Amino acid sequence: MDGNGRWARRRGLPRTEGHRRGLLTAERIVRFAGEELGIPYLTLYAFSKENWQRPPEEVEFLIELMGEFIREKRKLLVENEIRLRILGDLEELPPSLREEVEKTLELTRGFERYHLNIAFNYGGRQEILRAVRQIVTDRLEGRLNGEPIDERLFRRYLYTAGQPDPDLLIRTGGEERISNFLLWQIAYTELWVTETLWPDFTPEEFLAAVEEYQCRERRFGQVLQP
Ligand code: FPP
Repeated sequence: MDGNGRWARRRGLPRTEGHRRGLLTAERIVRFAGEELGIPYLTLYAFSKENWQRPPEEVEFLIELMGEFIREKRKLLVENEIRLRILGDLEELPPSLREEVEKTLELTRGFERYHLNIAFNYGGRQEILRAVRQIVTDRLEGRLNGEPIDERLFRRYLYTAGQPDPDLLIRTGGEERISNFLLWQIAYTELWVTETLWPDFTPEEFLAAVEEYQCRERRFGQVLQP
């Protein structure tokens, strides 16, 4: 969800105001994806491991905003039967936010139709290392029973365990890079970059991205027969 800072700067507003507007966009897009498009899995990249290096006021604001979202939207998630998952290290977050998050995770655990992932305190490289460490521990402690360490097993150790890989990755704000996002999972994901800054991103543009995606030929490294 890139471009909040630039959106604010262009209006002479503090960067935090861009994030606040970005949260409104996120809510609109989550609703549209589920209600109008029936997309079963949606992931929002809200806070990366690298984002801790931003000015402390901005970090604090983003953590507050996440708490606000989790508290205020808990009821909506439950009513719409949306299962929430957080991709990222919860242990490093303030205990008050963790409690709010854990409560929501528990309340939505049983839902199967719609899945909302929020990547928060997330990094793709860190996720892969975490999986490797857990596999080593499980192997040493005899929990893997000689199972082969292959892709199928590896996936079970990712935050996205049990979920399909993303079909489409949308990056707003015009940067043409991955920025440590779901590195394992996006091996064959289609990329779609727009110059639009996240607060200005609309359901119409989201639909345009999905429609363009539907016209792409996905070969997964193979040759398709004519
Ligand atoms: C990147 O834009 C955006 C972020 C680091 C924060 C995104 C967070 C939200 C939209 C709100 C929280 C959302 C949820 C669902 C809890 P940037 O600040 O790097 O913008 P710039 O590239 O223009 O500087």
